[in-house]
Amino acid sequence: MERLASSGVITLIDRLVQDETRKRQYYRPIYSVHKWWARRPGALFRSLILLAARPSLKDTLLQAIVDTLPDSRSPYFQSHDLSDVVILDPFMGGGTTLVEANRLGVKVIGCDINPVAFWTVKETLKPISLERLDAYFHQLESSAGATIRDLYRTKCLTCGEEHGEILYAFWVRSVHCPACNEEVLLFKRSLLNEGERRTKKISPNNRATAICPNCLSLILWDGQQPAHCDTCGHSFNPRQGTYDRGKFTCPHCQQSAALIPTLKAGQVMQEQLVALEYWCPVHQRRYYKAVDAQDKTRMAEIERRVKEEWDTLRIPKTTIPVGSTTQRWRAHGYHYYHQVFNARQLLSFHILLEAIAAIPEKEYREAFLTIFSNILEYNNMMTPYNYPHRKLHHLFTYHAMPLTTTPVENSVWGLGKAGAGTFANGYRRYRNAKHYAKKPYEKYRDAAGKILTVYPAGEYIAGNFVSSFEELLKTDKGALLFTQDSSSLPEIPDGSVDFVITDPPYYDNIHYSELSNFFYVWLRLMTDHPAFQAEHVPTDAEAIVDPGQEQGEAKYKSLMTGVFNEAHRVLKEQGRLIFTFHHTNPRAWWVILAALGDSGFQIVDNFPIRSEYKVNPHVRGKQALNTDMIIVAAKRPVAHLERELPSRTDPTQRFMDNLGNLLIELSGQWEKQPVLPAELTEHMTTLWMTLNDSYASIPASHPAPVAQQLRLLEKSPTYSQEEK
Ligand SMILES: C[S@@+](CC[C@H](N)C(=O)[O-])C[C@H]1O[C@@H](n2cnc3c(N)ncnc32)[C@H](O)[C@@H]1O
Ligand SMILES: [Zn+2]
Ligand SMILES: [Zn+2]
Ligand SMILES: [Zn+2]
Repeated sequence: MERLASSGVITLIDRLVQDETRKRQYYRPIYSVHKWWARRPGALFRSLILLAARPSLKDTLLQAIVDTLPDSRSPYFQSHDLSDVVILDPFMGGGTTLVEANRLGVKVIGCDINPVAFWTVKETLKPISLERLDAYFHQLESSAGATIRDLYRTKCLTCGEEHGEILYAFWVRSVHCPACNEEVLLFKRSLLNEGERRTKKISPNNRATAICPNCLSLILWDGQQPAHCDTCGHSFNPRQGTYDRGKFTCPHCQQSAALIPTLKAGQVMQEQLVALEYWCPVHQRRYYKAVDAQDKTRMAEIERRVKEEWDTLRIPKTTIPVGSTTQRWRAHGYHYYHQVFNARQLLSFHILLEAIAAIPEKEYREAFLTIFSNILEYNNMMTPYNYPHRKLHHLFTYHAMPLTTTPVENSVWGLGKAGAGTFANGYRRYRNAKHYAKKPYEKYRDAAGKILTVYPAGEYIAGNFVSSFEELLKTDKGALLFTQDSSSLPEIPDGSVDFVITDPPYYDNIHYSELSNFFYVWLRLMTDHPAFQAEHVPTDAEAIVDPGQEQGEAKYKSLMTGVFNEAHRVLKEQGRLIFTFHHTNPRAWWVILAALGDSGFQIVDNFPIRSEYKVNPHVRGKQALNTDMIIVAAKRPVAHLERELPSRTDPTQRFMDNLGNLLIELSGQWEKQPVLPAELTEHMTTLWMTLNDSYASIPASHPAPVAQQLRLLEKSPTYSQEEK
């Protein structure tokens, strides 16, 4: 039996991966250059690359001091020179494989069909000077920055200072009641926080701020029901609003109605600015205020200006295409990307983009464009306020496009270090990432739980971009990137790649093209790169099972087979295809298995690595197992395989081990007798039934995630998309 790593090493990788997933930005700041969804942990890919390229490390890559505590003297933490190795990632996404490989000196080839993925990888691997970056930032700060900050001024209620700076502007959307035609403000709740100090309960000593839903004054609430507004005499429950989960109740006639049908009947939601949270430079503290006449005039003036200058504004006029994740926005009347921003945001972006466009050096112009694109997630009118924490939820907290009726507007430029997602903080994140690239480190926890940092000597992240395979072989730290469907990579010669290490799209889980359009339409305004010519991110050859795009399982399977075929062609005879996969649906496993088998691969090893992923509870069927299966495949034929009996006791672990062994066995016989989807489902059913039996004897104190995952697996698979 071929093993990529011993079980001792796997246990330690598992440990590093879990730590990293909990606090990514701290462990590997390089990955915050630009948003990408469901990135795999860097520690996992560093391990896979080292294990693949240096098989002698399979028992020693990571050594324990005690139990699962890694020893910093392990080869994992040392520097290596892998400049003799060529690795391809045909689904590069945010670039985890390429970045980790580049760090080890590997020559990398990356491809992704999504131009935003290409942009992200290019920006992440690109070497830059921090001094030049800082110099350009200071120029932007005194020009565009100053102008934008002026759009976010407000007068301090307490001292009358005119130079208060808005941190957050609170908006509420409204419709007219279909029954009585009165305006209904769609508040989910009218609380702005859970008390000044969120660690304490709301009380007379720790009062919360709430908006009176009748007259929009701000009141301080001591927690006693009902709250009372002194301005208009209205009594109300601040925890209860007029709107919840798609339905609203009219406060005037008490009739309830559903929001989407109300909009379908011809209404458009209106937006109203209702309150501000600002910083007073005199008091040196944060305050809330209701909107005053001056704030309203200022906003109206901005709206007028945007209307007047519309044709010359540097903003996308692109539609939001039909899709399964864009469906929610479209159903609520948002058909153009610019509609999910307000006038002040659009004007600020225009000012910023004009200033960025004037940066003479391309690398730095594109660096600031990347920073700009990345902060869009925090600067739009679909981000709700995380009111107990007094900050905003960024847009893609889950892998979906959420809708809120009470958006909070961030300050685009920002002020000092306050507020995540401002341009000033976006620049700091980008800078941190680039700082890390110059001298990357690994972190791990010691016996006392203390986090220690190790710097592998001489390592750094910087790609030397090349445009041909010949050039790649000649170039130290070479990087060859493509933006296209990976099922045809004619630039790569046959039998020329040592390893294909990748993280393929997960069946139906994440709609990369739909989600990334949110950034793409902006990036596109500022680049003449040929990959950004089309109005939207191309979807034709995107491997995904997406009913919204009428792409069924058969198409996903044929695309996956196409890419694996190409991987087979470019791989050296002894090369390996190594990838991660996770899904709770047996169909997803069958497709992967079938694609592998059909393209001439055979699974030779597997092991599970646990990780903590955000699962979106709102999107039906979007359940990903919290365990990644690592699959190692070789070109067929492969000598007879001996199966290793699973020894671990954790039921999830055992399930994954068994699943892996099952896949090995089935893929081994593919040529003689391909497996039918029903057959795999049957095998899997037997697996999880066996597992359920053993699960019955597990003490109740066992951690919940395991139980949860098991329950997911118990659910019978849905066959919405039968194979034709
Ligand atoms: C799971 S993601 C990779 C994530 C990456 N490992 C990371 O850590 O960020 C899968 C990627 O496959 C890409 N993809 C889907 N179909 C493709 C195709 N036919 N050719 C190339 N890339 C494709 C998607 O755009 C997506 O970026
Ligand atoms: Zn003040
Ligand atoms: Zn009414
Ligand atoms: Zn009132």
